[in-house]
Amino acid sequence: MIIALYPGSFDPVTKGHLDIACRAARLFDRLIIGVYDTPEKKLMFSTAERVALFSEATRTLPNVEIRPFSGLLISFARELKVDTVVRGLRVSNDFEFEFDMAMLNRKLAPELELICFMASPEYQFLSASMMKEVARLGGDITAFVPANVVKAIKSKVAAER
Ligand code: PNS
Repeated sequence: MIIALYPGSFDPVTKGHLDIACRAARLFDRLIIGVYDTPEKKLMFSTAERVALFSEATRTLPNVEIRPFSGLLISFARELKVDTVVRGLRVSNDFEFEFDMAMLNRKLAPELELICFMASPEYQFLSASMMKEVARLGGDITAFVPANVVKAIKSKVAAER
């Protein structure tokens, strides 16, 4: 049984993240999505909210579980006894960041294998930060994030005003 860990900030989950999660869930027996609690970015959603949004968006995928984590990714992977990490890759900028992170993680935990999924063409340009900006500026994000996230972002944006 192969269990994979898909970590990220997911602030909030987009259809790009969801696409990677669905494809990974088809490939592995179980997929644990790790929502990192303290990324170095200004967050719109709390950890509990990010977990709840991703859980709702994946409720039809029986082998997917969403878990918050803090500290090092390799420690969380070891705690879960998982040796496969999944990440999505969009364009070259992603590659450089992912490459550095993979090399660092490999040094820290050589037993951990990284599998990168190429983002589907329709989601190559998508980022959670762009979605928040577009929503704040009144744009329509329904094509890019799950329906529950559209609702959640709208209510955050309304509360900011
Ligand atoms: O969605 P993101 O922000 O690109 O995800 C980045 C994430 C959460 C996977 C990465 O920052 C991470 O693994 N953080 C946990 C802390 C850690 O292990 N840091 C060392 C590797 S960068």
